[in-house]
Amino acid sequence: MGEEVEDRFIPVYKPLFETRTRTGRVIAYRVFAASVFGCICWILFYRVTVPLENRSGLVRLAMLILEIWFGLYWVITQSLRWNPVWRVTFTDRLSRRYNKDLPRLDVFVCTADPVIEPPLMVVNTVLSVLALDYPPEKLAVYLSDDGGSELTFYALTEATEFARIWVPFCKTFNVEPRSPAAYLSSKASGFGSAEEEEIAKLYKEMAVRIETTAKLEEARLKYSDGFSQWDSDATRRNHGTILQILVDGREDNAIGIPTLVYLSREKRPEHHHHYKAGSMNALLRVSSKITCGRFILNLDCDMYSNNSKSPLDALCILLDEKAGKEIAFVQFPQCFENLRNDLYGCAMRVNSNVEFHGLDGNGGPLYIGTGCFHRRDVICGRKYGEEEKEIEKLQEALELELIKPLASCTYEEGSQWGKEMGLIYGYPVEDVITGLAIQCRGWKSAYLNPKKHAFVGVGPTNLHQMLVQQRRWSDGDFQIFISEYSPVWYGQGNISLGLILGYSRFFLWAPSAVPVVIYSVLTSLCLLKGIPLFPKVFSSWFIPFGYVTAVVNVYGLAEFLWCGGTFHGWWNEERMWLYRRLSSFLFGFMDTIMKKLGVSESGFVITSKVGEEEAAERYEKEVMEFGVESPMFLLLGTLGMLNLFCFAVAVLRLMTSRDSGELQKMGLQLVITGTLVVINWPIYEGMLLRKDKGKMPISVTVKSVVLALSACTCIAFL
Ligand SMILES: *[C@@H]1O[C@H](CO)[C@@H](O)[C@H](O)[C@H]1NC(C)=O
Repeated sequence: MGEEVEDRFIPVYKPLFETRTRTGRVIAYRVFAASVFGCICWILFYRVTVPLENRSGLVRLAMLILEIWFGLYWVITQSLRWNPVWRVTFTDRLSRRYNKDLPRLDVFVCTADPVIEPPLMVVNTVLSVLALDYPPEKLAVYLSDDGGSELTFYALTEATEFARIWVPFCKTFNVEPRSPAAYLSSKASGFGSAEEEEIAKLYKEMAVRIETTAKLEEARLKYSDGFSQWDSDATRRNHGTILQILVDGREDNAIGIPTLVYLSREKRPEHHHHYKAGSMNALLRVSSKITCGRFILNLDCDMYSNNSKSPLDALCILLDEKAGKEIAFVQFPQCFENLRNDLYGCAMRVNSNVEFHGLDGNGGPLYIGTGCFHRRDVICGRKYGEEEKEIEKLQEALELELIKPLASCTYEEGSQWGKEMGLIYGYPVEDVITGLAIQCRGWKSAYLNPKKHAFVGVGPTNLHQMLVQQRRWSDGDFQIFISEYSPVWYGQGNISLGLILGYSRFFLWAPSAVPVVIYSVLTSLCLLKGIPLFPKVFSSWFIPFGYVTAVVNVYGLAEFLWCGGTFHGWWNEERMWLYRRLSSFLFGFMDTIMKKLGVSESGFVITSKVGEEEAAERYEKEVMEFGVESPMFLLLGTLGMLNLFCFAVAVLRLMTSRDSGELQKMGLQLVITGTLVVINWPIYEGMLLRKDKGKMPISVTVKSVVLALSACTCIAFL
């Protein structure tokens, strides 16, 4: 009775978001997975009980170990598909409940190098977040410039001027996306109004000014206060803190532009700067004295906001009174606009549209360092269950000289920054480990993947750069796996088993390369020697092998198409799956081992730099870009040649032999090695057929052929 009375007086809060599952699909998947698992057991049973035809115990043992590993890794991977969830937000309820009383939101954009990350691109990212659909007095944008570049600063001053027209324009005409470059290029066919034409003209003029300044030898532009902070001996790695508030929009000002701050933290050669983690931590401290947003959006400088309402989506989760209270951060996917058929398989379609939903069902996605909304106090160390502290009242007048020391090299000495507070130092993938640490403090995270992509960036279009990047990632991930922060022991008891497996699936990338390399070499060499590794095609033992091979690939293709990919894109992705393992991940694995043994990292030199334009043209035509003398290419080339020689010899033998049983015995091996040859086709082309500058360097080709030939000869006469 008492409850009923109360019910009428307590307003009923409707949730701001919902978590949905798709039961039918999940059950279908689990049945499918069970059938694959059954076949994996069948395969292992075959290996243990049936000897190989030539009775080679060593080869059989090797195959058994490899197959156990692949089986285990497959089981780990299932955690990403077992229990997927989808989040749906109700922004209209949020607007009704909060109206203009939304909490403060700080946006952190990090840039590190004005050459790799052109200031004009950075400016577009900044403008797109300045124009977010959010009360401007509650929004602040911070640019951390680890390149300490006067040019980036200059570009930002230009952007400040342009924002005075751009932000009102976006809000009046409700345009999307709000990166001027992206918006104007979508209007390439013609402008709809005089205002649009005017904006396009102003943008072009700004772009020209920034780009001409970039070409000047020395960009010493001294007309604003800010530039006096670059003293004559300031260099990129040795300078004091440079801090400038370009717009102070904290009070409801007439111009309606959010606060905009430039920060280049102090750098001294004798102090470690901890890369992006260090710059994020400096931003956390500096912003706490300026706007102190309760929530923080972290964005890479090459990703613009493609949906001005995405903060509202994220806040539906973070401000929800019930289920939202346990969620520390909301991660959006990384989307790319420049990848077409995705020659180098970096669009991460399946990752974004399947696997991250699976992680979310197990307790939350990883923090991937961009497109992520955090709670400030949680990233600064609050544990789940502790009370959220009231945010101090902000100072009216800002004393820059009092704030600057927060970004100095020595500020963190003897503090918990980089350990218990802020982003964690000492690992190449600081974001992922920080996310894991937050989850281990009892929090969950959530994954939002709306149809209208929230943040859009540019993906790598250069093979070597991509492989190097992936080498660092896999190395960094594996370092975490064997460190004190390993999800296996650090996560034990703090996060679910599904999430431990989910993390492990990524953290084991580097070591997972070793069995793939051995498997590809072993099947090829045994084919060359005529040693059958698999049961005959028409025997009942063949069923599990055939089933797993066929069904797993067909499922992969179906999933890829379902995620909006093309057949061509899938094939590219399959190829890169292999290349990454045979190069990046293997080298990443060796890097980790070397570091553990105390040997310094194997340095490698890139000798020639190919003209960017020609390379871009080739990318358009989907021609692979080699061009540099890299040990990773040498390995790819050698393994590719090895597959080719073995396959050629086997085919020759098959054509000359009269024994029809041969094909039955070697059937699957021929298919595997044949597939490797087809996958490696672009490598053969790059080595032997192409003449352009992006082909494989001649020295790499020669070494690869010699190495592969000698290996084959040795084995043949063994
Ligand atoms: C950006 O958003 C628009 C809708 O405003 C959408 O049509 C477009 O596909 C998005 N861009 C990307 C690359 O996802």
